[in-house]
Amino acid sequence: MKSSSPTVSTRGRLIVALDFPNQAKALTLVSVLSGAVSTYKIGLQLYTAAGPEIVRAVAATGANIFLDLKLHDIPSTVAKAVAAAGELGVQMLTVHLSGGRSMLEAAVEAKLPHLTLLGVTVLTSATEETLRETGVVSALDAQVIRLGELGKKSGIGGLITSPHEVGLLRERLGDEIMLVTPGVRPTWAAADDQKRFTTPHEALESGADYLVIGRAITAAADPRAAMERLLDEIAD
Ligand code: C5P
Repeated sequence: MKSSSPTVSTRGRLIVALDFPNQAKALTLVSVLSGAVSTYKIGLQLYTAAGPEIVRAVAATGANIFLDLKLHDIPSTVAKAVAAAGELGVQMLTVHLSGGRSMLEAAVEAKLPHLTLLGVTVLTSATEETLRETGVVSALDAQVIRLGELGKKSGIGGLITSPHEVGLLRERLGDEIMLVTPGVRPTWAAADDQKRFTTPHEALESGADYLVIGRAITAAADPRAAMERLLDEIAD
């Protein structure tokens, strides 16, 4: 059954990735999507090119900011970066769970209340071979679970996960942890370089709280129409 209009809560669960090389391109898209998107993800490319100014500019439109910097460093350096991100006003920030418990606890202690720390388990670009190269002998799934459990014990609020691992993590870690899933594609969009994607609907059904959507919207001829079509597909 199709609802007549997508619910606000579904719209609120979509995060649009601003994967652009400069501030002007990013702000053009934010303006096109004005009012239709509640959270934008700013990652390494845009942040390196445009710095905290782009965060302030997007936040000034009233949107929430997910700063995807995947921090991994000594505990005091990560703690200071987390505190700085909190001051900047971002709502979500990524850290690598492989940084270990003392780094994660320092990050949790340094964060302001409005900031949710999201742990990265194993990057989806990694294979078992990558794990072996870096001295990890566990199977990939087991490593994802181990790091997810470490994040939860350390007080991390959520995890970034492949849509294929959402169900397993939800089952093992319960409902309190926030699960955020990139690597989703609506049925009508190009796969691009994503190999193991699911549809947004499948990811939400498996237990994802938020979906990160990039090119299906940002590279569309009409990004606003693509956003509405995607919401329709989820509601369908
Ligand atoms: O364009 P697309 O929807 O593939 O973009 C997804 C976003 O999520 C990009 O910012 C990408 O870097 C990020 N991402 C991903 N897969 C992961 C982790 C992050 O696609 N495993």
